[in-house]
Amino acid sequence: MTEPFPRHPYLSGFYRPFGAEMDAPDLVIEGSLPAELEGTFYRNGPDPQHPPHPDDRYHVFDGDGMVYAIRIAGGRASLRNRWVRTRKWELERAAGRRLFGVFGNPRFNDPSVSPMDYNTANTHIWPHGDLVYALMEGCPPTAMNPETLETLGYETFGNTVTGPFTAHPKTDPADGAMHAFGYCAKGPGSTAIRYNVIDARGRPRHLAWLDQPWASMMHDFALTEAHVVFPCLPVVIDMARALEGKPMAAWEPERPAMFGIMEKGGPGGESVSWHEAEQTFAFHVANSFEDGRDIVIDVAGARRAPLMPSADGTLPDENETRFRLTRWRIGGNGHVSEERLDDLDIQFPRIDDRFQGRRYARVFANGTARPTAGRIDGFDSIATIDLARGTRHSFSFGEGAYCGEPVFVPRGSREGDGWLLSLVWDSSANESFLAVLDAEHVAAGPVARVLMPARIPGGFHCHWRPMA
Ligand SMILES: [Fe+2]
Repeated sequence: MTEPFPRHPYLSGFYRPFGAEMDAPDLVIEGSLPAELEGTFYRNGPDPQHPPHPDDRYHVFDGDGMVYAIRIAGGRASLRNRWVRTRKWELERAAGRRLFGVFGNPRFNDPSVSPMDYNTANTHIWPHGDLVYALMEGCPPTAMNPETLETLGYETFGNTVTGPFTAHPKTDPADGAMHAFGYCAKGPGSTAIRYNVIDARGRPRHLAWLDQPWASMMHDFALTEAHVVFPCLPVVIDMARALEGKPMAAWEPERPAMFGIMEKGGPGGESVSWHEAEQTFAFHVANSFEDGRDIVIDVAGARRAPLMPSADGTLPDENETRFRLTRWRIGGNGHVSEERLDDLDIQFPRIDDRFQGRRYARVFANGTARPTAGRIDGFDSIATIDLARGTRHSFSFGEGAYCGEPVFVPRGSREGDGWLLSLVWDSSANESFLAVLDAEHVAAGPVARVLMPARIPGGFHCHWRPMA
Protein backbone atom coordinates (compact mmCIF):
# COMPACT_ATOMS: atom_id res chain seq x y z
CA MET A 1 0.00 0.00 0.00
CA THR A 2 1.25 3.47 -0.73
CA GLU A 3 0.13 6.69 0.97
CA PRO A 4 -1.72 9.36 -1.05
CA PHE A 5 0.49 11.84 -2.85
CA PRO A 6 0.48 15.44 -1.56
CA ARG A 7 -1.00 18.30 -3.58
CA HIS A 8 1.74 19.47 -5.91
CA PRO A 9 1.68 20.84 -9.47
CA TYR A 10 4.05 18.08 -10.61
CA LEU A 11 1.98 15.34 -8.95
CA SER A 12 -1.34 16.24 -10.56
CA GLY A 13 -2.88 16.71 -14.01
CA PHE A 14 -0.38 15.89 -16.74
CA TYR A 15 2.16 14.83 -14.10
CA ARG A 16 -0.12 12.72 -11.90
CA PRO A 17 1.84 9.51 -11.22
CA PHE A 18 0.72 6.67 -13.48
CA GLY A 19 2.10 3.78 -11.43
CA ALA A 20 1.46 1.00 -13.96
CA GLU A 21 3.48 -1.00 -16.45
CA MET A 22 1.86 -1.95 -19.74
CA ASP A 23 2.32 -4.05 -22.87
CA ALA A 24 0.16 -2.97 -25.76
CA PRO A 25 1.02 -5.15 -28.77
CA ASP A 26 -0.83 -3.42 -31.61
CA LEU A 27 -1.66 0.25 -31.23
CA VAL A 28 -4.34 2.15 -33.11
CA ILE A 29 -2.81 4.34 -35.83
CA GLU A 30 -4.53 7.30 -37.45
CA GLY A 31 -3.01 8.18 -40.82
CA SER A 32 -0.20 5.96 -42.01
CA LEU A 33 3.27 5.40 -40.63
CA PRO A 34 6.05 5.91 -43.19
CA ALA A 35 7.21 2.51 -44.43
CA GLU A 36 10.87 3.39 -43.84
CA LEU A 37 10.26 4.29 -40.19
CA GLU A 38 11.52 1.19 -38.36
CA GLY A 39 12.91 1.31 -34.86
CA THR A 40 11.99 2.27 -31.31
CA PHE A 41 11.11 5.64 -29.84
CA TYR A 42 12.08 5.81 -26.16
CA ARG A 43 11.03 8.30 -23.52
CA ASN A 44 12.13 8.59 -19.90
CA GLY A 45 10.48 10.60 -17.14
CA PRO A 46 9.50 10.68 -13.48
CA ASP A 47 6.79 8.41 -12.10
CA PRO A 48 7.28 8.36 -8.32
CA GLN A 49 6.35 5.10 -6.59
CA HIS A 50 5.68 6.78 -3.23
CA PRO A 51 5.14 10.27 -1.82
CA PRO A 52 8.07 12.00 -0.10
CA HIS A 53 8.44 12.54 3.65
CA PRO A 54 5.71 15.00 4.75
CA ASP A 55 8.31 17.68 5.62
CA ASP A 56 10.25 17.21 2.38
CA ARG A 57 9.54 19.13 -0.84
CA TYR A 58 8.82 17.05 -3.95
CA HIS A 59 10.58 18.14 -7.14
CA VAL A 60 9.76 17.04 -10.68
CA PHE A 61 13.41 16.07 -11.17
CA ASP A 62 13.08 13.53 -8.34
CA GLY A 63 10.46 10.88 -9.36
CA ASP A 64 11.44 7.29 -10.17
CA GLY A 65 12.29 6.82 -13.85
CA MET A 66 9.70 5.12 -16.07
CA VAL A 67 10.80 4.25 -19.60
CA TYR A 68 8.31 4.06 -22.48
CA ALA A 69 9.31 2.22 -25.66
CA ILE A 70 7.15 2.63 -28.77
CA ARG A 71 8.33 0.13 -31.33
CA ILE A 72 7.50 0.81 -34.97
CA ALA A 73 7.91 -1.67 -37.82
CA GLY A 74 6.00 -2.57 -40.98
CA GLY A 75 3.55 0.28 -40.47
CA ARG A 76 2.48 -1.07 -37.04
CA ALA A 77 3.37 0.00 -33.53
CA SER A 78 3.49 -1.44 -30.00
CA LEU A 79 4.09 0.03 -26.56
CA ARG A 80 5.92 -1.25 -23.50
CA ASN A 81 6.70 0.74 -20.37
CA ARG A 82 8.76 -0.28 -17.37
CA TRP A 83 10.13 1.42 -14.29
CA VAL A 84 13.90 1.41 -14.12
CA ARG A 85 14.54 -1.05 -11.30
CA THR A 86 17.27 0.82 -9.51
CA ARG A 87 18.39 -0.22 -6.03
CA LYS A 88 16.37 2.73 -4.68
CA TRP A 89 13.28 1.45 -6.53
CA GLU A 90 13.78 -2.12 -5.23
CA LEU A 91 14.35 -1.02 -1.62
CA GLU A 92 11.31 1.27 -1.63
CA ARG A 93 9.15 -1.32 -3.37
CA ALA A 94 10.06 -3.85 -0.66
CA ALA A 95 9.41 -1.31 2.13
CA GLY A 96 6.16 -0.06 0.57
CA ARG A 97 7.20 3.53 1.24
CA ARG A 98 9.71 6.19 0.39
CA LEU A 99 13.14 5.72 2.04
CA PHE A 100 15.14 8.52 0.40
CA GLY A 101 14.90 12.29 0.75
CA VAL A 102 14.10 14.33 -2.34
CA PHE A 103 17.36 14.57 -4.36
CA GLY A 104 18.74 12.11 -1.80
CA ASN A 105 18.72 14.90 0.81
CA PRO A 106 20.38 13.19 3.81
CA ARG A 107 18.08 15.06 6.19
CA PHE A 108 15.19 12.84 5.08
CA ASN A 109 16.99 9.59 4.22
CA ASP A 110 15.87 6.58 6.25
CA PRO A 111 18.78 5.35 8.43
CA SER A 112 18.57 1.96 6.69
CA VAL A 113 19.68 3.26 3.28
CA SER A 114 23.00 4.30 1.83
CA PRO A 115 23.06 7.78 0.24
CA MET A 116 25.01 6.15 -2.61
CA ASP A 117 21.85 4.29 -3.66
CA TYR A 118 19.88 7.44 -4.53
CA ASN A 119 19.30 6.86 -8.24
CA THR A 120 16.11 7.92 -10.01
CA ALA A 121 17.39 7.04 -13.53
CA ASN A 122 14.62 9.32 -14.81
CA THR A 123 16.09 11.91 -17.18
CA HIS A 124 17.21 10.43 -20.48
CA ILE A 125 17.28 7.10 -22.27
CA TRP A 126 20.35 6.82 -24.47
CA PRO A 127 21.10 4.01 -26.93
CA HIS A 128 24.77 3.05 -27.26
CA GLY A 129 26.13 -0.22 -28.64
CA ASP A 130 23.74 -3.09 -27.89
CA LEU A 131 21.98 -1.47 -24.93
CA VAL A 132 20.01 1.56 -23.85
CA TYR A 133 20.99 3.51 -20.75
CA ALA A 134 18.63 5.22 -18.33
CA LEU A 135 20.49 8.35 -17.26
CA MET A 136 20.25 10.81 -14.39
CA GLU A 137 23.17 13.09 -13.71
CA GLY A 138 23.95 11.93 -10.14
CA CYS A 139 24.82 8.28 -10.89
CA PRO A 140 26.46 5.98 -13.42
CA PRO A 141 24.23 4.92 -16.32
CA THR A 142 21.67 2.18 -15.64
CA ALA A 143 21.75 -0.35 -18.48
CA MET A 144 18.51 -1.77 -19.88
CA ASN A 145 17.66 -4.36 -22.49
CA PRO A 146 16.40 -2.31 -25.47
CA GLU A 147 13.64 -4.84 -26.29
CA THR A 148 12.37 -6.09 -22.92
CA LEU A 149 13.31 -2.98 -20.87
CA GLU A 150 14.72 -5.34 -18.23
CA THR A 151 17.02 -3.39 -15.92
CA LEU A 152 20.57 -4.78 -16.08
CA GLY A 153 22.19 -2.55 -13.43
CA TYR A 154 24.91 0.08 -13.35
CA GLU A 155 27.36 0.25 -16.25
CA THR A 156 30.79 1.56 -15.26
CA PHE A 157 32.50 1.02 -18.65
CA GLY A 158 35.43 -0.88 -17.19
CA ASN A 159 35.42 1.04 -13.89
CA THR A 160 36.02 4.34 -15.70
CA VAL A 161 32.58 5.73 -14.79
CA THR A 162 32.81 5.68 -11.04
CA GLY A 163 30.06 8.13 -10.12
CA PRO A 164 27.83 10.83 -11.62
CA PHE A 165 27.30 10.72 -15.39
CA THR A 166 25.47 13.39 -17.38
CA ALA A 167 22.01 12.73 -18.80
CA HIS A 168 23.28 14.48 -21.96
CA PRO A 169 26.20 12.56 -23.43
CA LYS A 170 27.11 13.32 -27.05
CA THR A 171 27.71 10.80 -29.81
CA ASP A 172 30.53 11.96 -32.11
CA PRO A 173 29.41 11.31 -35.71
CA ALA A 174 33.08 10.96 -36.73
CA ASP A 175 33.49 7.60 -34.98
CA GLY A 176 30.36 6.84 -32.95
CA ALA A 177 32.19 7.42 -29.66
CA MET A 178 30.21 8.69 -26.69
CA HIS A 179 31.61 11.73 -24.86
CA ALA A 180 30.28 12.35 -21.37
CA PHE A 181 31.10 13.92 -18.04
CA GLY A 182 29.98 13.82 -14.43
CA TYR A 183 29.96 16.75 -12.02
CA CYS A 184 30.22 16.54 -8.21
CA ALA A 185 32.34 13.58 -9.24
CA LYS A 186 34.18 13.38 -5.89
CA GLY A 187 31.06 13.65 -3.76
CA PRO A 188 28.06 15.98 -3.52
CA GLY A 189 29.22 19.60 -3.56
CA SER A 190 32.69 18.80 -4.95
CA THR A 191 34.00 20.80 -7.91
CA ALA A 192 35.47 17.69 -9.56
CA ILE A 193 34.40 16.77 -13.10
CA ARG A 194 35.20 13.41 -14.67
CA TYR A 195 35.33 13.31 -18.48
CA ASN A 196 34.85 9.97 -20.24
CA VAL A 197 35.07 8.84 -23.83
CA ILE A 198 33.50 5.45 -24.61
CA ASP A 199 34.04 3.97 -28.07
CA ALA A 200 31.22 2.90 -30.39
CA ARG A 201 31.32 -0.65 -29.03
CA GLY A 202 31.12 0.46 -25.40
CA ARG A 203 34.79 0.13 -24.50
CA PRO A 204 36.45 2.87 -22.40
CA ARG A 205 38.81 4.98 -24.51
CA HIS A 206 39.69 7.97 -22.38
CA LEU A 207 39.33 9.29 -18.83
CA ALA A 208 40.32 12.75 -17.54
CA TRP A 209 39.64 14.89 -14.48
CA LEU A 210 39.18 18.63 -14.11
CA ASP A 211 37.71 21.09 -11.61
CA GLN A 212 35.03 23.67 -12.31
CA PRO A 213 35.23 27.06 -10.53
CA TRP A 214 32.34 26.15 -8.22
CA ALA A 215 30.03 23.15 -7.79
CA SER A 216 27.52 24.21 -10.43
CA MET A 217 24.67 21.92 -11.47
CA MET A 218 26.08 21.24 -14.94
CA HIS A 219 23.20 19.60 -16.78
CA ASP A 220 24.67 19.61 -20.28
CA PHE A 221 27.90 20.42 -22.14
CA ALA A 222 29.09 20.96 -25.70
CA LEU A 223 31.12 18.87 -28.13
CA THR A 224 32.51 20.24 -31.39
CA GLU A 225 34.83 18.58 -33.91
CA ALA A 226 37.84 19.70 -31.87
CA HIS A 227 36.73 20.72 -28.37
CA VAL A 228 34.55 20.01 -25.37
CA VAL A 229 33.09 22.96 -23.44
CA PHE A 230 31.90 22.82 -19.82
CA PRO A 231 29.42 25.59 -18.84
CA CYS A 232 29.67 26.49 -15.13
CA LEU A 233 26.50 28.48 -14.40
CA PRO A 234 24.91 30.04 -11.29
CA VAL A 235 22.91 27.01 -10.01
CA VAL A 236 25.12 25.79 -7.17
CA ILE A 237 25.10 22.54 -5.15
CA ASP A 238 25.77 23.21 -1.45
CA MET A 239 25.48 20.32 1.01
CA ALA A 240 25.94 22.53 4.10
CA ARG A 241 22.94 24.56 2.95
CA ALA A 242 20.93 21.36 2.45
CA LEU A 243 21.63 20.18 5.99
CA GLU A 244 20.24 23.51 7.27
CA GLY A 245 16.96 22.62 5.57
CA LYS A 246 17.54 25.01 2.66
CA PRO A 247 17.75 24.05 -1.03
CA MET A 248 20.66 21.80 -1.93
CA ALA A 249 20.74 23.25 -5.45
CA ALA A 250 20.01 26.97 -5.60
CA TRP A 251 20.38 29.95 -7.93
CA GLU A 252 23.14 32.23 -6.60
CA PRO A 253 22.55 35.63 -8.22
CA GLU A 254 26.06 37.00 -7.59
CA ARG A 255 27.64 34.38 -9.88
CA PRO A 256 28.74 35.07 -13.47
CA ALA A 257 28.94 32.29 -16.08
CA MET A 258 32.23 30.49 -16.74
CA PHE A 259 33.04 28.38 -19.80
CA GLY A 260 35.79 25.76 -19.64
CA ILE A 261 37.28 24.80 -23.00
CA MET A 262 39.37 21.68 -23.54
CA GLU A 263 40.56 19.79 -26.58
CA LYS A 264 38.34 16.85 -27.45
CA GLY A 265 39.88 13.85 -25.69
CA GLY A 266 42.12 16.27 -23.72
CA PRO A 267 43.92 15.56 -20.44
CA GLY A 268 41.76 17.74 -18.17
CA GLY A 269 43.35 19.60 -15.24
CA GLU A 270 45.27 22.71 -16.23
CA SER A 271 44.68 22.12 -19.94
CA VAL A 272 41.17 23.53 -19.51
CA SER A 273 40.93 27.29 -20.15
CA TRP A 274 38.12 29.07 -18.29
CA HIS A 275 36.42 32.19 -19.68
CA GLU A 276 34.14 34.45 -17.68
CA ALA A 277 30.91 35.79 -19.18
CA GLU A 278 27.83 37.75 -18.18
CA GLN A 279 25.42 35.78 -16.04
CA THR A 280 23.26 33.49 -18.17
CA PHE A 281 21.54 30.14 -18.00
CA ALA A 282 20.67 27.09 -20.06
CA PHE A 283 19.78 23.52 -19.22
CA HIS A 284 20.14 22.29 -22.81
CA VAL A 285 22.60 22.62 -25.65
CA ALA A 286 21.10 22.24 -29.13
CA ASN A 287 24.42 22.04 -30.99
CA SER A 288 27.89 23.57 -31.10
CA PHE A 289 30.58 23.96 -33.72
CA GLU A 290 33.89 25.59 -34.63
CA ASP A 291 33.61 28.88 -36.53
CA GLY A 292 37.15 29.90 -37.39
CA ARG A 293 38.81 30.57 -34.03
CA ASP A 294 35.43 30.92 -32.32
CA ILE A 295 33.34 28.23 -30.69
CA VAL A 296 29.59 28.60 -31.19
CA ILE A 297 27.17 26.97 -28.73
CA ASP A 298 23.43 27.15 -29.45
CA VAL A 299 21.24 26.60 -26.39
CA ALA A 300 17.75 27.00 -25.04
CA GLY A 301 18.81 30.02 -23.00
CA ALA A 302 17.09 32.03 -20.25
CA ARG A 303 17.95 34.89 -17.90
CA ARG A 304 17.83 32.47 -14.98
CA ALA A 305 16.99 28.87 -14.17
CA PRO A 306 13.37 27.75 -13.86
CA LEU A 307 12.41 25.21 -11.19
CA MET A 308 15.51 26.10 -9.15
CA PRO A 309 14.92 28.28 -6.07
CA SER A 310 17.15 30.96 -4.60
CA ALA A 311 19.01 30.06 -1.42
CA ASP A 312 16.05 31.34 0.64
CA GLY A 313 13.69 28.97 -1.21
CA THR A 314 11.85 31.55 -3.35
CA LEU A 315 11.14 30.53 -6.93
CA PRO A 316 11.95 32.81 -9.87
CA ASP A 317 9.61 35.00 -11.88
CA GLU A 318 8.30 33.04 -14.90
CA ASN A 319 9.17 35.82 -17.33
CA GLU A 320 12.89 35.42 -16.55
CA THR A 321 12.88 31.69 -17.05
CA ARG A 322 11.42 31.24 -20.52
CA PHE A 323 13.87 29.49 -22.82
CA ARG A 324 14.58 30.83 -26.27
CA LEU A 325 17.06 29.69 -28.87
CA THR A 326 20.24 31.56 -27.96
CA ARG A 327 23.77 31.57 -29.36
CA TRP A 328 26.82 31.73 -27.10
CA ARG A 329 29.97 32.62 -29.02
CA ILE A 330 33.30 32.12 -27.30
CA GLY A 331 35.75 34.18 -29.34
CA GLY A 332 39.30 33.14 -30.09
CA ASN A 333 40.27 36.02 -27.76
CA GLY A 334 38.25 34.46 -24.93
CA HIS A 335 35.46 37.04 -25.06
CA VAL A 336 31.98 35.50 -24.73
CA SER A 337 28.95 37.07 -26.38
CA GLU A 338 25.28 36.10 -26.46
CA GLU A 339 22.69 36.53 -29.21
CA ARG A 340 19.03 35.53 -29.35
CA LEU A 341 18.33 33.53 -32.51
CA ASP A 342 14.56 33.09 -32.27
CA ASP A 343 11.71 34.32 -30.06
CA LEU A 344 9.66 31.14 -29.63
CA ASP A 345 9.30 29.94 -26.03
CA ILE A 346 10.88 26.48 -26.26
CA GLN A 347 11.67 23.62 -23.91
CA PHE A 348 13.85 20.86 -25.44
CA PRO A 349 15.93 21.72 -28.55
CA ARG A 350 17.12 18.87 -30.77
CA ILE A 351 18.97 18.55 -34.06
CA ASP A 352 19.68 16.09 -36.84
CA ASP A 353 22.21 14.16 -34.74
CA ARG A 354 24.35 13.37 -37.80
CA PHE A 355 25.41 17.04 -37.56
CA GLN A 356 26.36 16.93 -33.87
CA GLY A 357 29.39 19.21 -33.40
CA ARG A 358 29.26 20.34 -37.05
CA ARG A 359 28.10 23.50 -38.76
CA TYR A 360 24.35 23.02 -39.10
CA ALA A 361 21.16 24.92 -39.79
CA ARG A 362 18.14 23.26 -38.21
CA VAL A 363 16.86 23.15 -34.67
CA PHE A 364 13.73 21.20 -33.73
CA ALA A 365 11.94 22.00 -30.49
CA ASN A 366 8.73 21.72 -28.56
CA GLY A 367 7.50 25.20 -27.79
CA THR A 368 4.58 27.55 -27.48
CA ALA A 369 3.60 30.83 -29.04
CA ARG A 370 1.12 31.53 -26.22
CA PRO A 371 2.91 31.41 -22.87
CA THR A 372 0.36 31.41 -20.08
CA ALA A 373 1.09 32.64 -16.58
CA GLY A 374 1.08 29.88 -14.01
CA ARG A 375 0.93 27.10 -16.54
CA ILE A 376 2.93 23.91 -16.13
CA ASP A 377 4.79 23.40 -19.39
CA GLY A 378 2.00 23.80 -21.98
CA PHE A 379 4.29 23.42 -24.98
CA ASP A 380 1.54 22.89 -27.55
CA SER A 381 3.70 23.13 -30.70
CA ILE A 382 6.50 21.41 -32.59
CA ALA A 383 8.78 23.79 -34.48
CA THR A 384 11.57 23.64 -37.03
CA ILE A 385 13.85 26.68 -36.84
CA ASP A 386 16.07 27.14 -39.90
CA LEU A 387 19.08 29.23 -38.91
CA ALA A 388 20.39 29.55 -42.46
CA ARG A 389 17.14 30.91 -43.87
CA GLY A 390 15.99 32.68 -40.70
CA THR A 391 12.62 30.94 -40.82
CA ARG A 392 10.50 29.07 -38.32
CA HIS A 393 7.73 26.62 -39.19
CA SER A 394 5.55 25.13 -36.50
CA PHE A 395 2.41 23.14 -35.87
CA SER A 396 0.21 23.62 -32.80
CA PHE A 397 -1.75 20.69 -31.42
CA GLY A 398 -4.12 23.22 -29.85
CA GLU A 399 -4.64 24.81 -26.49
CA GLY A 400 -4.33 22.24 -23.73
CA ALA A 401 -1.90 20.06 -25.70
CA TYR A 402 1.49 19.17 -24.22
CA CYS A 403 4.17 18.16 -26.74
CA GLY A 404 7.20 16.25 -25.59
CA GLU A 405 10.73 16.55 -26.91
CA PRO A 406 10.82 16.05 -30.69
CA VAL A 407 13.23 13.40 -31.92
CA PHE A 408 14.58 13.54 -35.46
CA VAL A 409 14.74 10.33 -37.52
CA PRO A 410 16.66 10.65 -40.81
CA ARG A 411 15.13 9.72 -44.18
CA GLY A 412 17.61 11.07 -46.76
CA SER A 413 21.19 12.26 -46.37
CA ARG A 414 20.46 16.01 -46.44
CA GLU A 415 20.34 17.74 -43.04
CA GLY A 416 16.76 17.81 -41.76
CA ASP A 417 15.37 15.38 -44.35
CA GLY A 418 13.41 13.06 -42.08
CA TRP A 419 10.68 12.69 -39.49
CA LEU A 420 9.98 14.30 -36.14
CA LEU A 421 8.45 12.15 -33.42
CA SER A 422 6.85 13.71 -30.35
CA LEU A 423 4.73 12.20 -27.59
CA VAL A 424 1.73 14.47 -27.12
CA TRP A 425 -0.97 14.65 -24.44
CA ASP A 426 -4.15 16.42 -25.48
CA SER A 427 -5.64 17.38 -22.12
CA SER A 428 -9.01 18.36 -23.59
CA ALA A 429 -9.50 14.88 -25.11
CA ASN A 430 -7.50 13.16 -22.31
CA GLU A 431 -5.58 11.36 -25.05
CA SER A 432 -1.89 10.59 -25.47
CA PHE A 433 -0.39 9.84 -28.87
CA LEU A 434 2.90 9.71 -30.69
CA ALA A 435 2.82 12.31 -33.45
CA VAL A 436 4.89 11.65 -36.59
CA LEU A 437 5.60 14.79 -38.64
CA ASP A 438 7.59 15.35 -41.80
CA ALA A 439 10.47 17.50 -40.51
CA GLU A 440 10.49 19.46 -43.79
CA HIS A 441 6.74 20.12 -43.65
CA VAL A 442 6.08 20.56 -39.95
CA ALA A 443 3.31 23.11 -40.46
CA ALA A 444 1.25 20.48 -42.32
CA GLY A 445 0.79 18.61 -39.05
CA PRO A 446 1.27 14.93 -38.33
CA VAL A 447 1.19 12.31 -41.09
CA ALA A 448 0.32 9.74 -38.44
CA ARG A 449 -0.85 9.59 -34.82
CA VAL A 450 -0.09 6.44 -32.84
CA LEU A 451 -2.72 6.34 -30.09
CA MET A 452 -1.59 5.32 -26.62
CA PRO A 453 -3.84 3.07 -24.51
CA ALA A 454 -3.70 5.47 -21.54
CA ARG A 455 -2.54 8.94 -20.50
CA ILE A 456 1.24 9.02 -20.49
CA PRO A 457 2.38 11.50 -17.85
CA GLY A 458 4.74 14.41 -18.53
CA GLY A 459 8.38 13.42 -18.86
CA PHE A 460 11.78 14.48 -20.02
CA HIS A 461 14.02 13.21 -22.79
CA CYS A 462 13.52 10.94 -25.78
CA HIS A 463 15.66 9.09 -28.27
CA TRP A 464 15.29 6.90 -31.35
CA ARG A 465 17.05 3.62 -31.89
CA PRO A 466 16.82 2.37 -35.47
CA MET A 467 16.05 -1.27 -36.05
CA ALA A 468 19.28 -3.25 -36.30
FE1 LIG B 1 17.92 17.53 -19.83
